[in-house]
Amino acid sequence: MADTALMDKLVSLCKSRGFVFQSSEIYGGLGSVWDYGPLGVALKRNVKDRWWSSMVNARDDIEGLDAAILMHPRVWEASGHVAGFTDPLVDCRQCKNRFRADDPRIKGTPGQPDAQCPVCGTRGSLTEPRMFNLMFKTFMGPVEDSASVVYLRPETAQGIYVNYLNVLQSSRQKIPFGIAQIGKAFRNEITPGNFIFRTREFEQMEMQFFVQPGTDGEWFERWREWRMEWHRSLGLDPAKLQWHQHAGSELAHYAKAAFDIQYQFPFGWQEIEGIHNRGDFDLGRHQEFSGKKLEYFDQAENQRYLPYIVETSAGADRVTLTLLVDAYREEQVEGETRVVLGLHPSVAPITAGVFPLVKKDGMPELATTLYHELRRGLACFYDDSGAIGRRYRRMDEAGTPFGITVDGETLAARTVTVRHRDSMQQERVELDRVEGYIKEKLRATPGS
Ligand code: GAP
Repeated sequence: MADTALMDKLVSLCKSRGFVFQSSEIYGGLGSVWDYGPLGVALKRNVKDRWWSSMVNARDDIEGLDAAILMHPRVWEASGHVAGFTDPLVDCRQCKNRFRADDPRIKGTPGQPDAQCPVCGTRGSLTEPRMFNLMFKTFMGPVEDSASVVYLRPETAQGIYVNYLNVLQSSRQKIPFGIAQIGKAFRNEITPGNFIFRTREFEQMEMQFFVQPGTDGEWFERWREWRMEWHRSLGLDPAKLQWHQHAGSELAHYAKAAFDIQYQFPFGWQEIEGIHNRGDFDLGRHQEFSGKKLEYFDQAENQRYLPYIVETSAGADRVTLTLLVDAYREEQVEGETRVVLGLHPSVAPITAGVFPLVKKDGMPELATTLYHELRRGLACFYDDSGAIGRRYRRMDEAGTPFGITVDGETLAARTVTVRHRDSMQQERVELDRVEGYIKEKLRATPGS
């Protein structure tokens, strides 16, 4: 399948099955902003739950946080975003479109007569590059003046830095320890695109690990390894995951060292998570700008220092897209195309579909009872409409790993058919054992 064809099919499946819709679609849509439908919100929630349980629940040395999106405007001066979170842009005076100055479609040098607009084709119409800040601005309070400007946060990390002392003191953690947060971030991206890959509103799953200076190199390596392992545990094809090390010129203003975890999307190798050694840049800047001492007193070492930070920063939407791309496949089954999302069972929006084979002979009643019992502990979906084959196919497209059918034998022998999404094999399981059987299979899946 051609790469663009795969993305087109995925976008269309996401809409028809209720994973992702264009924002404000009935008004013609809003550029690079997307809404998650019933299946999409469940998938993304499962991604975030898996991240949270591996980062916070499974560790004694990481605490959770949920900081507000709106922060004191000085935060963004200290972080370097007011001065440096910019892209060089050029405008076309003719068609009024705006481009990144390094847009590969631009022929010639912007600002010079030879430069050609990639949209209207006019020569000499492109302006000299100007720096454009990617932060969304708004106003706090009733007056819209420069004193009331606040920003929608472009990353969640700063909420962690400014709360580092609060968390340290209230949780009685000692260095090394981390703070994890999941939340929305906003960037007025100039070249967004590729569906939910690069959007203007997105969610980040960030963790900042505070360490003694000099131990940052080891912690950086450990976190690199753990984060790659986490992505593999989601069932992603390991051959489609790789590291990209940032060369000196690529490094962000705060980073001493940085590696991206990249996935091979249909549109090329792209970053899904960044692991950064931020040194003492962040706490140093916040200490300077706030005037508040942020040093740590290390009793064991009897010394005072500003901790260094190792950051892991993943996009919940990017990981969701990665899972969808990796899971999508088409197979030929008895002369028909079967579309399957082979999602890891721990993130699948629905774990089990429950079906009465026919709508008579007491099957719907039994299936409904089973469905109500199962859904207390598992994400289930009840479907009694259409031929059983079609109901299985709908569940395949939703990525549902198990299909449970109540049939004639259920009434006679109290057993049901459990159908497996990937192999399409079916087996008989005793009605009373179904829940335990599915939970056992889930536990046994590698990466769960
Ligand atoms: N605090 C560090 C930081 O924000 P980043 O590399 O700019 O680093 C981290 O972003 C992650 O956030 C990326 O790896 C990506 O998964 C996600 N991300 C960044 N910009 C995004 C966008 N416009 N749309 C969707 N996800 C984005």
